[in-house]
Amino acid sequence: MSKLPGNAGVSVLGDKSLEFYRDPVHFCRQRVEKHRSRVFQCRILNRPTAFICSVQGMRELLCEKSNLFLKDPTDLMTNMYGDTVITTNGEEACLLRLSLSSLFTGSCLKSSNDYITSGQPQCVYSAFKRLGTELVLGLFLNVRAEEQPELFQEISQLCTLHWHGLISAPVSLKVPLWSSGYSTALDARDKLMDIIKDKLENDKQGFVGSLGSLPLPDSSSASQHLLLFISALIPKALASLLTSFTLALSGDQQLLNNMNIYLLVHEQTRRRLLEDPDYLRLVLLEVQRLWPPFIGGRRIADKDSTLAGFPVPKDYGAIYISHSVHRDPEVFQQPDDFLPERWSGRNAGQEHFLCSFGNGPRNCIGTKLTDVFLKEACMYLLNHYDWCLDPPSQDLEYKWLPVSRPANTPTVSFTQLDQTPSDRSNDTS
Ligand code: HEM
Repeated sequence: MSKLPGNAGVSVLGDKSLEFYRDPVHFCRQRVEKHRSRVFQCRILNRPTAFICSVQGMRELLCEKSNLFLKDPTDLMTNMYGDTVITTNGEEACLLRLSLSSLFTGSCLKSSNDYITSGQPQCVYSAFKRLGTELVLGLFLNVRAEEQPELFQEISQLCTLHWHGLISAPVSLKVPLWSSGYSTALDARDKLMDIIKDKLENDKQGFVGSLGSLPLPDSSSASQHLLLFISALIPKALASLLTSFTLALSGDQQLLNNMNIYLLVHEQTRRRLLEDPDYLRLVLLEVQRLWPPFIGGRRIADKDSTLAGFPVPKDYGAIYISHSVHRDPEVFQQPDDFLPERWSGRNAGQEHFLCSFGNGPRNCIGTKLTDVFLKEACMYLLNHYDWCLDPPSQDLEYKWLPVSRPANTPTVSFTQLDQTPSDRSNDTS
């Protein structure tokens, strides 16, 4: 068996984490070309690591060999969120998933506020992040912006500070008048936990009430999972997808070409999206294929094994890169092009080759909820607004960390549509 292409380098000096975090897409593209292989090795987080950029490798890692490649319990997520299903393995993870999954039916989703104001150009990413925050705080904590604006504002700000702990160096330092980002994040986490515990004790309604009565392993499990669910991660991921959707349909020919999109006659496309719910499904699949919100996920080899025919020794890391997996030319022809029709043609029934929401037994437990929310939000936008980039020429180059979105926040003008009575009767939002 030939060895994994690439080099794991020497400890510390051979580490490529900084290079990877600076531009993960370029990092992988360069190595895939150099090694002529979509699976290669490098040293990341000072651990020799197999990089998986092919559909076959991703399926092996996350599905067939999920019992050999495990979550890392020492992941930074554990520092910031405590023991949650995300970093747990084995039977405990199975039981947690079973309990928590019962909460995610999607039927609890009610989103009726008008979050978009027409007229002025909007920073779409920020507007959608606010929408996502309203969704998670309303749904998971029963805190609604219109009913308790101050509490909503306080929790949103704490969530942002807490989030900074995930993306800053884990150094807890405090001196008079200054504390490190990580230390501020830990303080924010403590304050959020106080609010969450109070909710779990006193609020018997909705999701908080259901979570409080679930069979979970210990008394802190419910609060730690609530902290995870209301974290800034989810609004950011939702905003990422909605931003990419909005841009993909913004209709500007020059910019569409910049984004490698060939979705031309946008007027007809939008009409078709409104009339044919299945076409919206195809468009959203293509949006998540090209612009997956998270770059991927990481596992540790529990035993000597193989991935895509290459040996992967015990204790090696293994990272799947969703951006690269989704552009595997073996599965996706014209991989860089925006072609929603592929999902009703050559790639019909191949949604399981995507990994924007993970894959296999440890996939995302919020996919159904996200699907309901996204479809509702997209239909709402299509039913009520026309939109275009404003100004029409903007740099839409994507960055991929911490979530994917254009590096310079794009601005879009929304124009309220005059709906005919028959349009309104078809309005599902
Ligand atoms: C656009 C929205 C979302 C995206 C893109 C997303 C993405 C992901 C991905 C990629 C994973 C797998 C990570 C891995 O393989 O290591 C994952 C796992 C997970 N997601 Fe999501 N997610 C989203 C929304 C949600 C929501 C709404 C919830 C629930 C409130 C949620 C809860 C979870 C949990 C608990 C896991 C861990 C499952 C396990 O380890 O067994 N996610 N998500």
